[in-house]
Amino acid sequence: MIREILKMGDPRLLQVAGPVENIHDLTLRAIIADMYETMHAANGVGLAAPQIGVGLRLMIFGFNENPRYPNEKPVPVTTLINPWLEVLTEETEEDWEGCLSAPGMRGLVPRATRIRYGGTMEDGSELAREANGFHARVFQHEFDHLNGVLYPQRIKDMTKFGFIEALFPESELAALEAD
Ligand code: NI
Repeated sequence: MIREILKMGDPRLLQVAGPVENIHDLTLRAIIADMYETMHAANGVGLAAPQIGVGLRLMIFGFNENPRYPNEKPVPVTTLINPWLEVLTEETEEDWEGCLSAPGMRGLVPRATRIRYGGTMEDGSELAREANGFHARVFQHEFDHLNGVLYPQRIKDMTKFGFIEALFPESELAALEAD
């Protein structure tokens, strides 16, 4: 079922999510299925449970091709329960980021360039992998949602935050996000 995505300003997006206690819970399966349906319907590259009003440490992300980020390389489709993050470098890189909870907007956000992350997968096994570039960015963005942090809070230069059609008037993205 496609769920409503909470929009920036909703206090539920600012809460720290709680751990998933039972990964075999049937309700959890249904939530994950709804999250994929909701993410795909919105052309998202990731979605965290708090964005649909579920205050659990649960996230999904990944794509082969995505119209909202046409220039980015694929990211493996991943479901993570109670994820963890280890930053492997002090080096950060700024790039444009959006969020389904702030539709039509983009901001220039610094993120660690190299991370290790992991968590429990749907089948109960543990995942751990390293990531860099956009893959690392997507994970850090979703992980922030679990701690009640939205990307605009991380923008250093607020002149680099705005509506897509105003920031990138010539881009196909402007047409895509305008509807
Ligand atoms: Ni987001």
